Amino acid sequence: MKKGKVDALLGIVFGDEGKGKVVDCFTPRYDVVARFAGGPNAGHTIIFEGKKFVLRSIPSGIFDEGKLNIIGNGCVIAPDLFMQEAQELEAAGYDLKSRLHISKRAHLILPTHRVLDRAYEAAKGKNKVGTTGKGIGPTYSEKASRTGLRVGDILADFQQKYATLKARHMQVLQDLHYTDFDITEEEKLWMQGIEYMREFQLTDTEIELGKALAEGKNVLAEGAQGTMLDIDHGTYPFVSSSNTVSGGVCTGLGVAPNSIGEVFGIFKAYSTRVGSGPFPVELFDETGDKIREIGHEYGAVTGRNRRCGWLDLVALKYAIMINGVTQLIMMKSDVLDTFDTIRVCVAYQKDGVTTTDMPYDTEGWQAVYEDLPGWKTDLTQMTSEAQFPQQLKDYITYIEKATSTPITIVSVGPDRAQTIERMALDFRL
Ligand code: GDP
Ligand code: IMO
Ligand code: MG
Repeated sequence: MKKGKVDALLGIVFGDEGKGKVVDCFTPRYDVVARFAGGPNAGHTIIFEGKKFVLRSIPSGIFDEGKLNIIGNGCVIAPDLFMQEAQELEAAGYDLKSRLHISKRAHLILPTHRVLDRAYEAAKGKNKVGTTGKGIGPTYSEKASRTGLRVGDILADFQQKYATLKARHMQVLQDLHYTDFDITEEEKLWMQGIEYMREFQLTDTEIELGKALAEGKNVLAEGAQGTMLDIDHGTYPFVSSSNTVSGGVCTGLGVAPNSIGEVFGIFKAYSTRVGSGPFPVELFDETGDKIREIGHEYGAVTGRNRRCGWLDLVALKYAIMINGVTQLIMMKSDVLDTFDTIRVCVAYQKDGVTTTDMPYDTEGWQAVYEDLPGWKTDLTQMTSEAQFPQQLKDYITYIEKATSTPITIVSVGPDRAQTIERMALDFRL
């Protein structure tokens, strides 16, 4: 039998590109949907039939009854937040326990990891990362230093393991003189979350995936964050703490590189970033405010203003290279509907040096732009490429030429229905 494939859908810039929406649209084509990295720092929005959901740890394939969803070993999970998220879905009528499996190897985010996140941020003074405060960095640090707790640990002697790790955290916090906090209530909820998680299938998901692929089943790996937030390839140290790139699919799910098929690179028709760190295309003027306003660019997790700017081809090309992107998906095209001119960053400049390659240190670079005419047309009701204005077609062709990668899907609104396939997509059908 022909083995199945793992296709990856990855945010290729600074996150919040619309991964949740497209994973939800793609789910009917797959047997399994799996998250491979990140945790509740993610916020993936899905809108259909007048309903809206923001998922944090649960894969966006969860609305399709017949599909298995997996939280993979590369993820980190906060039991209390997971419980809240899952119970909301259960209340909305989705039976999670039959369709969601959690890797025993995924790491647990403790309440004290979240305090440590705040404490480390406070200690950084001006150089704060601007984290989501969900304990992501401390949990992944502990995974690397081999002191963390994993989901599988809740199956035996858990209270003792928890107490040992918590005591270590409390010592570190005391050493940092960060003692003004009270996690009593949070901890109670967290322990309820542990009990709730026991009702789920906590499994060896890498083995399940291996068997599924051997049976010819296909898997969609749902990225979190974006390439420029990757711990190795992003704008370090202003990044998250996991490998968000396609390489992370293999380690974060336990699937082999030769099982990877399509790599979908998802980006917005413009750029946003939430949190600190270099962002050469950032607009500080009313154009940036206008993009934020029209695009509702406020964080799904923290509600923070997202920083806005024009599309950055330097970042896009770098991400396409690192991930091996085979198809591009352009989101939120409708947000640019009213602009006379649309700018695209084609290079960075600093101290008389111009580069089109992502520099090691992205601090202090200025964007070099090319201008294209806007389409000045409402895209939101369109249902096929034939209806696209010529200026939008030109914008698409311009990006395709610059990146040598086809844009196969164009999104013209937040709803599941506002998704236009430019060519008959023959993958996984
Ligand atoms: P994710 O983290 O990549 O899943 O993206 P988020 O959910 O954090 O952010 C994307 C936001 O854009 C959400 O509010 C979506 O509902 C919205 N969205 C997705 N696609 C489109 C689109 O094509 N047009 C518009 N206007 N909004 C979109
Ligand atoms: P989704 O999956 C956008 C950013 C934070 C911060 C940095 C580190 O919804 O696209 P962390 O809490 O991970 O230690 O924060 O990364 N960040 C995101 N930005 N979308 C996300 O996820 C993000 N997850 C983390 O704002 O700058
Ligand atoms: Mg998001």
